[in-house]
Amino acid sequence: MTEPTQLPARAPRVHREVTSFVRRSTRMRPVHQRAWERLRHAYVVEVPQRATSTSVAPGHALDLAAVFGREAPLVVEIGPGTGESLVAMAAGRPEVDVLAFEVYLPGVARAVHRLHETGVGNVRLLQTDAVDGLTHLLGPASVTELWTFFPDPWPKVKHHKRRLVDRAFADLVAERLRPGGHWRLATDWADYAEQMRTVLDAHPDLVSAASSVDGWADRHPDRPLTRFEQRGLDAGRTVRDLHYRRR
Ligand SMILES: C[S@@+](CC[C@H](N)C(=O)[O-])C[C@H]1O[C@@H](n2cnc3c(N)ncnc32)[C@H](O)[C@@H]1O
Repeated sequence: MTEPTQLPARAPRVHREVTSFVRRSTRMRPVHQRAWERLRHAYVVEVPQRATSTSVAPGHALDLAAVFGREAPLVVEIGPGTGESLVAMAAGRPEVDVLAFEVYLPGVARAVHRLHETGVGNVRLLQTDAVDGLTHLLGPASVTELWTFFPDPWPKVKHHKRRLVDRAFADLVAERLRPGGHWRLATDWADYAEQMRTVLDAHPDLVSAASSVDGWADRHPDRPLTRFEQRGLDAGRTVRDLHYRRR
């Protein structure tokens, strides 16, 4: 097996507010590093940063028509990991543009490799904190559909403050969704699923689009089974899908 290689960090390490992620290794397999070096300019959007490498400096809203080379409904994925569901779902909907925020550099590199291998052309990635990205890069009512599949569960109670889906995040998403826009979520952690439902059911600008009698949504018809989801199933956890619409 070939040794993974280490990429230099893009910015110095600084202390910042609580985030839904922690800094992880940038080590990646040579095939993904080559994809990153050779192909990132085709798929990865670089934006001005504040102090950390995953932050966004205010005042640099994206010109989406320039980013995608066309105007089309915008779908946003938050935390695609290595792009397993991202690439499959984008491939099935060539009529939309998909913008994905992922902080984990080796994940972004693997997604770039996948996009190149599959020839899927309607996806652009940012190695950016989605909270900063949604706040500074996209305008109000700009998003047609937003995907949050298996956000980091942070199972320990002392880490619950790191969970991405809370009221403040729901406020941000609701503002970015266009009226009638969809928010699709999934998690295999029962108490996080309950937390999501409590927060989103109570949100004045969101309405549940769940079709089942128990209030949980049907699985997104295009969402493939990922390695991450399989791990949850193997551990005996139940996967919950949630579906809300912007009023
Ligand atoms: C548990 S993984 C799930 C990956 C993928 N959605 C799947 O189902 O296989 C969660 C991902 O979210 C990313 N993430 C966490 N917080 C984020 C944030 N604020 N902005 C962008 N990505 C984030 C993590 O780096 C990680 O890759």
